[in-house]
Formats: sequence, structure tokens, C-alpha cells
Amino acid sequence: MATATMTSLFSLSLSVGIALLSLSFLTTAVSASEFTFQEATIESIQLAFAQNRLTSRQLVGFYLDRIQTLNPSLRCVLEVNPDALAQADEADLLRAEARGGKGTLGNLHGIPVLLKDSIGTDDKMNTSAGSYALLGARVPRDAFVVERLRSAGAVILGKASMSEWYSLRSWEMPRGWCARGGQGVNPYVKSENPCGSSTGSAIAVAANMVTVSLGTETDSSIICPTDHNSVVGFKPTVGLTSRAGVMLVSPGQDSIGPISRTVSDAVYVLDVIVGLDPRDEATGEAAKFIPMGGYKQFLREDGLKGKRLGIVRNPFSDSRGSTAASIFDQHLVTFRNYGATLVDNLEIENIDIILNPSKNGEMGVL
Ligand SMILES: *[C@@H]1O[C@H](CO)[C@@H](O)[C@H](O)[C@H]1NC(C)=O
Repeated sequence: MATATMTSLFSLSLSVGIALLSLSFLTTAVSASEFTFQEATIESIQLAFAQNRLTSRQLVGFYLDRIQTLNPSLRCVLEVNPDALAQADEADLLRAEARGGKGTLGNLHGIPVLLKDSIGTDDKMNTSAGSYALLGARVPRDAFVVERLRSAGAVILGKASMSEWYSLRSWEMPRGWCARGGQGVNPYVKSENPCGSSTGSAIAVAANMVTVSLGTETDSSIICPTDHNSVVGFKPTVGLTSRAGVMLVSPGQDSIGPISRTVSDAVYVLDVIVGLDPRDEATGEAAKFIPMGGYKQFLREDGLKGKRLGIVRNPFSDSRGSTAASIFDQHLVTFRNYGATLVDNLEIENIDIILNPSKNGEMGVL
């Protein structure tokens, strides 16, 4: 699991090179010719918005085309939001008004976001944890994190596939499979395990079918699929993001977190979705630790200077000599070059028990 986290954070440099997807369907995004949709970041999108080179409608149109083309093979989107284009139009309108001098808009304004299918939305979409059992059911209200995204001006693009019922449907089920969506496919190596349970959220970001997405994690459900699909993701401390309106496995462990192509994008999403929510008690304690001015102030090029990082290899990392191991070690060199002190080969006492869900008590909690 530690390897999964580290490789997801390191995957920035890994995920740029692979262009396995063709641009030939880029027909409806007509006048956005100057804008590079592939690997677009929130910053590049906001700059293009500001310079009138791109609208939210064009961006949403690009992703909808992309979903239509790629989803039959990648199976990462369960539903697109029938209101996505209307929401994009509204975001474009508000931006035009804001230009007239009425305040500034946030980083997520007009940005399309895909939600894991266990995150409730009170709109035309289903919330079903990938299962047919809840199809057609209504939720009483948006999840808190969805409320936050909407008020930040984000466009809710659709619902992502996931390991059905967080993989608890059966002990034998493959990761990334659900009845509604079928088997989610790793876009980089189609025969590889895409991992789960936030499978569709990671695949869609990796394949440029959306800008950013939300996943949820009990125990590696964000970091594992983001690792396997070469994107960025992390599990916020439990309680930083409200779980109200989201299906849970364990209130003591579950957390909602961002999935994106860059660390900066993950931080912009985190800034919007954290916060105190009376409907989730755990947010009361955690909210005290949210820094004034949010997290983006820590996105600094010299951010690693003076930091002490422990490296736990055993039993997480690949044996030395593999390609993954040598890339891992190159990243450690990068960390050192940016001023971090590394304490390598840390050993964790009783790691075998800690990692065994039936011996560490986790199975009982779940
Ligand atoms: C939600 O599920 C129902 C089927 O039960 C389906 O008719 C409807 O199209 C779904 N909503 C969307 C937006 O796909």
C-alpha cells in the first residue's frame, strides 16, 4: 500500500509519455483549436478560459465525445449527467458576468468532475455503487462533497464505475468489475488489473475523459487504482471530507478524496471538498486542522526542502532490479535533489500482523 501511494505521487513524470489514444474524434470542439485537451490541467484550463480560448461547453463537449468513443472499451463511466452541458453553459455565463467586474471565481469554476457511483447526487442520475439493486432509487439530497463542488461552479459530468459494493459483493470478484458497467479496463495496459474500488474514477482521468474525479477509500480504494492507472490520488485524513450522502463501508475508516493527473489539481479539489458538516460528526475534529487559506499555499517548488521522509520498502516495494524498482529509486534521487532528507529501509514492527485484515481487527470493524 505504501508503494501504491508513493508511485501515485510519482506518476506525474510517468504518465506524460503515453499517447495511445487518437485525436480523430475531436470534431465537436470546434473553435477551441488553440487548446490542448490531452493532459490538460486545471491551471491550463483556467488560463484558456481567461484568455477566451476555451469555454466550459467546449471542454464538456470534448469529454462527452471522448466518453462516447472510449467508454465501450474502457468501461469506466456508468452514466453521463444529462444536465452537464447546461451546467457548463451556466458556468460560462457566470464567467462572462464576472469579467464585468463582479468578484473572482474559484479554481474549479467550469471544471468537469466525475463522481464515484457511491457518492449521492440529487439530480437525474442514479447512485448505485455499481449495482442494479439501487437503480432508479432516489437520494434525499446531494452528498456534502457534491454540494461543495456545485457551489464552487464545478460541472458534474457523470458517475464512474467501481468495484461493485466496494468489492464486498463477493470475495472472489475481480477488481474494477460491477454489474452495471462490466469490467473496468486499465487504459495503459489493457490486460493489467486496474485495481479498485475507485476504478472508473482513476481510468477516466488517465484516459482524458474528464479533468478530475472523486473516489472513496476505506483501505487503498483510492491509492491502489490511482497507482495502477498512473494518476494522482490520496486518502484525506478521515473526517477532513464529510461522508454524508456517500455509501460507507466503515465510518471509522472511510474518506472521500480527489483523483487527478497532477498533484496541483488534486489540491484544488481538496480545497473545495474539505470542511465542517453537521451531518458527519467526524468533520468536527478534523476541521480544526484545515489551514487558513487552504492547501494550495503549500504547492511550492521548494516544498521538499528540509523535509524528512521515511522509506518503507519491506514488504511493499518490488525487488531490486525490476523496472519499477529502478524508477522508484530515481524518484528518491529527485527528492534528495529538491532538499529532502531520506531515511531509507525503515522497518515497521509487526508489519505482517498490521497488513493482515483478519489478524489486525480490520475485518471485524468492516
Ligand atoms: C438511472 O436509471 C434508470 C433505470 O432504472 C434509467 O432509466 C436512467 O436512464 C438512469 N439515469 C441516467 C441519467 O442514466
